[in-house]
Amino acid sequence: MLTQKEFIQKSLEVNLFFLRIMKEHLFFIETGMPHINEDLIQEADILKRSLEILLSETVDLADGAIREEVLDSNELVTPYTLETEKVTSKLTGPRLDTDITKREMELTHDPNFDFTYWLEGQLENINMRAKNLLLDTIAYKKKVLEEVTKCELYTTLYPEMQSHLIAEAEYYLELLKGLKERKLPEKELCDILNFWNYVMMDHAQFIEGFLDPSEEDLKEMAKKFIKAYDILIRECERCSRRTILEKSTRATRDIVEYKMAATEGILACDIKSIILPLLADHVLREANHYLRLLKDIREY
Ligand SMILES: [Fe+2]
Ligand SMILES: [Fe+2]
Repeated sequence: MLTQKEFIQKSLEVNLFFLRIMKEHLFFIETGMPHINEDLIQEADILKRSLEILLSETVDLADGAIREEVLDSNELVTPYTLETEKVTSKLTGPRLDTDITKREMELTHDPNFDFTYWLEGQLENINMRAKNLLLDTIAYKKKVLEEVTKCELYTTLYPEMQSHLIAEAEYYLELLKGLKERKLPEKELCDILNFWNYVMMDHAQFIEGFLDPSEEDLKEMAKKFIKAYDILIRECERCSRRTILEKSTRATRDIVEYKMAATEGILACDIKSIILPLLADHVLREANHYLRLLKDIREY
C-alpha cells in the first residue's frame, strides 16, 4: 500500500513521463500519414492536444514534489527535447506545446515539500482523466494498426512500431490502474526487465531500419544492440537477480550513449536518416527512464 506521499510522487512521476510519451506517439502517427487521411489526422491531433493539456496541469502540480533522481535522470526532458520539438514541428507542420517543455526544465525537488490532502485529490483526478484519455488513445492506435494491417492505410511507421506504441500505452494503463488501488503492479523481475529489454531491442531495430543505407557503422552498432537485448531477454529466467540487473544496466548505459550521439548527430544534420529529431529524443528518454528504473530496482 502506497503512503499518501508515495501516491502523490508516483502519480506525478508516472504521468509526467508517460503523458509526454503518449502525446508524442500521436504526433508520430499524425505526421506519418499522408494528407488523404484527414479524419484520422484530425483525431490524432485532438487526442494529442488533450494529452498536452493534462501534461501541462500535471507540471503545475509537480514543482518540488518529485524525486531528485527522476529530475536528474533526463527521462522527463533531455537537454535536446526543446530543440528537437522546434525542428520537428518546423519540418512536419503540426504544432507542439514547447511552453510545457520549458516549464518542465525548471522543475525542482524540495526535501521539505508539503504533501497535502488537496494535492492527493488533484492527483486522483489527473489519474482518472489520464486513464480515460489513454483508453481513447489505445483504441485509436489499434484502429490505425488494423487499417495498416489490411493495407487500407499507408504510413511511414512500421506495423511493428505501432504495436510497440500500443504496448507502451498498455503498460502505462496498468500503472494507472495500480495507482487507483494505491499500489504498484506486482510483477516478477523478468516480466519488468523483459518488457523494457524488448522496448530497447525494438528501438534498435527501428533505428537500424530508419538509418540511411550509407550509415554502415551506425547500422552495425544498432544490430549489436538488437543481439545484446535479444540475449538478455532469453537469458533472464536463467540468470541470478544480480547478474541480469548488471547486464541490463550495462547494455542500457551503452544504448543511452548511442541514442544521445544519434540525437545530436540528427539535430546537427551529420547523420543521414528518415528519423524525426523528436523520435530520436523520445527513444533516448525511454532509455533514460529504464536506466533510472533499473537503479530503483537495484536499490530496493
Ligand atoms: Fe514510445
Ligand atoms: Fe518506445
